[in-house]
Amino acid sequence: MAKSVILLAALISSALASFLEVDYPNVNVSAERNGDAIFEAGAGGSVFLQPGAGGTVYINKTDLKKFIEKVKSLPPIWTKRSQHGSLGTFLSGQYVQVSVEAVDPDGSSIIYSLISGHLPPGTVLNMTTGEISGRAPDIDAEYSFGIRATDIHGKYADGVFSIDIREKDQCLSNPCMNGGTCTDDLGQFNCSCPLRYGGNKCQTVCDVNALGVSNSLKTIPDAQISGHLTFGSNNPWDGRLGSSTGWVGNDSNSWLQVDLGESREVYAVATQGYHSTSYYISSFTVTYSVDGNTFVYATANGSTNLKGSSNYDMIQKEMFDKPIKARFLRFNPVTWHTGGHPGLRVEVYGC
Ligand SMILES: *[C@@H]1O[C@H](CO)[C@@H](O)[C@H](O)[C@H]1NC(C)=O
Ligand SMILES: *[C@@H]1O[C@H](CO)[C@@H](O)[C@H](O)[C@H]1NC(C)=O
Ligand SMILES: *[C@@H]1O[C@H](CO)[C@@H](O)[C@H](O)[C@H]1NC(C)=O
Ligand SMILES: *[C@@H]1O[C@H](CO)[C@@H](O)[C@H](O)[C@H]1NC(C)=O
Ligand SMILES: *[C@@H]1O[C@H](CO)[C@@H](O)[C@H](O)[C@H]1NC(C)=O
Repeated sequence: MAKSVILLAALISSALASFLEVDYPNVNVSAERNGDAIFEAGAGGSVFLQPGAGGTVYINKTDLKKFIEKVKSLPPIWTKRSQHGSLGTFLSGQYVQVSVEAVDPDGSSIIYSLISGHLPPGTVLNMTTGEISGRAPDIDAEYSFGIRATDIHGKYADGVFSIDIREKDQCLSNPCMNGGTCTDDLGQFNCSCPLRYGGNKCQTVCDVNALGVSNSLKTIPDAQISGHLTFGSNNPWDGRLGSSTGWVGNDSNSWLQVDLGESREVYAVATQGYHSTSYYISSFTVTYSVDGNTFVYATANGSTNLKGSSNYDMIQKEMFDKPIKARFLRFNPVTWHTGGHPGLRVEVYGC
């Protein structure tokens, strides 16, 4: 010890100012850039690095004691459960509250983190407690995920866990109305409705459910109402039931077309004449199509000839013999009030 390099360094320090500096009570040893600082004892000698009371030995600004602690420290150990295993089975909608637990043999605190897989949607991992909590999702699935328990020294242990979620029977609450048949599906139910009923719960009575051409509803936009061979200055989209004007066709080659936007089950149509004139139709046909190219005739009371209104304001509703699947409907005037023109305002009913 007595022949330690410190002594040598002290000699050299006069030549290399940065190598050894004594600034009582500090003795700082530093090397030039890319240089080495060597503490070397002779054969059988020792080099002691010993802090004073309350002092610290730093290695590259790290407390040597902490460094040794870290090297000696042990990784956490999973305790509460094995590090592979199921955390349980839960029903959709049930509140999940389970936890994983690891301890650090050195007694430090643990941080939990998700490192692979997925927790059931709607649940979260508390990184300080290891608790997984939240509402079980509405799905039938097993979730497998990896959790890492890390101690303050950065040492860790990984575990792989799983949570099973069982979907509940969506039909238990009898959601289908009006005699509909319920089928349980993943996260949802499916109602199969008897004739006349529709909607996701069979709550809609199709033959009285206006699809929105009417002036008071207008869920079918103007752009989806078109006319062929229009007479006068009114627009096709004036042909809405209850409008203050109406659409007027030129002759029996004319038609008013409603595009429902998607294919629907259509049960009935209603017509009125042009508002406050003698322009009203006494009979008409309805042709319909799903693609806008191929049109076929609908029938009511066994005939393709449907009854129109007997004055301009009366609403005449015609039920089809059976519901038709249609996106496009064309109202084609056949006969109309003598001396006038085929005036029309319409609505379509269905689901
Ligand atoms: C020695 O290092 C200490 C701590 O970094 C510093 O406060 C002190 O000024 C240094 N002394 C010299 C002589 O460089
Ligand atoms: C010294 O510490 C710094 C900062 O923590 C680090 O980037 C560097 O790699 C360390 N040097 C050595 C030789 O360990
Ligand atoms: C984790 O659990 C602790 C203790 O129950 C709680 O104080 C903390 O808020 C929780 N953290 C989150 C993100 O919920
Ligand atoms: C509901 O059931 C019908 C008839 O089985 C089927 O055609 C339809 O695709 C189902 N709908 C959904 C959303 O599962
Ligand atoms: C309108 O109808 C009349 C009588 O049928 C016909 O002569 C005329 O060509 C038609 N006009 C148009 C634009 O179709």
